[in-house]
Formats: sequence, C-alpha cells, structure tokens
Amino acid sequence: MTEQNPLTVQALQWTGTSLKVLDQRKLPEHIIYDEYTDAAGVTEAIASMRVRGAPAIGIAAAYGVVLSVIEHYTSSSHWRQQVNADVEMLAQSRPTAVNLFWALAQMTDALDHEHDNPVAAAQSCAEKIHADDIVANLAMGELGADLLRGVKGVLTHCNTGALATGGHGTALGVIRSSYRRNPINVYAGETRPWLQGVRLTVWELAQDNIPVTLIADSAAAWLMKTGAVEWVIVGADRIAANGDTANKIGTYSLAVLAKRHGVKVMVVAPTTTIDWNMATGEHIEIEQRQQSELLPECYNQYQGVVSAWNPVFDVTPAELIDAIVTERGVVLNPAAHGVGGLKHAV
Ligand code: MRU
Repeated sequence: MTEQNPLTVQALQWTGTSLKVLDQRKLPEHIIYDEYTDAAGVTEAIASMRVRGAPAIGIAAAYGVVLSVIEHYTSSSHWRQQVNADVEMLAQSRPTAVNLFWALAQMTDALDHEHDNPVAAAQSCAEKIHADDIVANLAMGELGADLLRGVKGVLTHCNTGALATGGHGTALGVIRSSYRRNPINVYAGETRPWLQGVRLTVWELAQDNIPVTLIADSAAAWLMKTGAVEWVIVGADRIAANGDTANKIGTYSLAVLAKRHGVKVMVVAPTTTIDWNMATGEHIEIEQRQQSELLPECYNQYQGVVSAWNPVFDVTPAELIDAIVTERGVVLNPAAHGVGGLKHAV
C-alpha cells in the first residue's frame, strides 16, 4: 500500500502486471492504493466498494480478467475454463451497474477472437475500455455544458467524477466542463448512507479548486424552493431502453422534488450504461447492502426488533428526466421515444 499525490485523482492504475485501486472507503482522509494481482482480489475490491461507480466497476473488472489470463494462460492447459470461472466470479461482485456485465462481455469476446496471444488481447481490450471511457466523458462534458448555458446553479448527487470512471466523470464531468466555460454554483448532496457526496464529490471538486456547497440530502427540497438550482445532474448505473434510470438511492426523490419546483433533471452516462435489452426500469435488479451500513452497532442487541432496509439504488422513471446525455448525443424528453435511437448512432 502506498500514499499517492492527491492532485492526480485516479481510481485505477494498471501497471502491466497488477491493478492498483484507490481505496475510496478511506477518502478523503487517506489516499491509499491497494495492489491486486488476481481476479479474486479485484472481485473483493468491487464488492467492498474500494472501487465504485458504474464505469469504474466495469474497467476494474476488465483488468481483473487480464489478471486472470496472466495467471492461468501459462500455467494450465485448462486456462480458458479457469478464466471463465473468474469472469463468473467478477460478475457476482455487484448487481446493478450494467457496465460490469458489458465490460466482461467485451473481454470474453476479445478472448474468443484471439488464439495466438490471449494475454496481449485481454490487456489491449481492457486498456481500450479504460481509454474509451475517458474519451466518452470528455464528449459528454461538452454536450452537457451546452445545456447549462446561462445556468447559475446545479445540484448533484453521489459521486460521478474521476473516482467513479476512467477519468473526468459523467455528471461531475459536465460540471467540470461547464465550470471551465463559466463559473456555476455547485451544490452536492451528502448521499447517505455511504456519503459518496461529502467524502468523494466534495473532495474531487476541491482538488480542482471548483467551489462546492454541501447540503444534507434532506435539505434538497428547501434548496430548490430558494431557486438556487436550475438543474439536478446525476449519473446512472443502468438505463433501460425507455429511459428509466437506475442510480444511487435518493435520485428518484430528487427527481420528484425537481418536478414540484420546476427544476430540470439531467442524467449523464456513456452508452455502456444503457441496457439495450431491458425494455423498462421495472426489471432492474436493485442492490441491497448490509444493514450495518445504516444501523449503528449498538442496535445489534435488539436483533429481531430493530432492522434496516438498505437499497442502494432506485429507479427514476423517464417521465421525470429532461435530458439523457451520452457520448453519442443528447436525448431530450426521453419519455417520448426512449434511448433506442442512440444504439446505432455514431
Ligand atoms: O454505489 P456506488 O457508489 O457504486 O454508486 C454510484 C452511483 O450511483 C453513480 O451515480 C453511478 O455509478 C454513476 S458513476 C459515473
């Protein structure tokens, strides 16, 4: 474990033989990278949320497959079965972000089509997934910033920045790109219970010297009532074909509040977050995490009496979303036609 320069926000660093993962559970107090050399370690890093955020989960899993190929290709004639088992294991790490399953499918496909040098094929596929995500984020940043022309204030939720992606970010990428054009007032919700907003988003913006005002999640309605924000800007873990969007718990609440107050809602996500085969958000699996993330330890003595319900995502219906920004273009009013039109867009 090593301390790194805090000015370079990188969730993941590929060394060629290992994956270094910034432990986001320790931020903002400690900048500590853990180093992994096998798929089991990467699976644990995703499940325990050392690395989190839909695109970053997909990228980490892709490198997990590379590590699996490196481990098994030279040592076993059954290497492909062992890699397939590792792919299965990685797929079990978290259920909601579709980027995970997309990235694993890309990796499997790359291995299916390369027989001479699987290590090189896996590595170049993972590196491409990583690099393409950064390019997509920069493109979305500009497209989203176009929508924010003249806007004075925005509210964001969870962490959708460099920490949650290959770099730059999705919703936070739009805020970064927009701020470069014209300063805007950025409000960040603390994002209970894991506090991605206060621990990660506020920290990331501070690294870039972008002023940010933290609010308690429960202050959002009151903030909107003051007229201080014109847009709620969020990322996504899975977007169904009709535009219904799964994202961090609390996003749906914000969208309902936004409707009441005439505030617009922007979802920013690469097309790797679109689940083309899922017609509506109704069937998206919502991850439930441990009660202990919510419930103070002192309640352990009341087992059977006191419990916690801890869904960590919710689904915002398309009708509450004004714009879905992807690297292939912007869908305004997604409730009208969904996002299917983006599938073959370049
Ligand atoms: O549980 P997390 O922290 O992985 O949830 C992250 C989110 O919900 C993000 O908003 C989403 O993954 C988009 S990240 C660019």
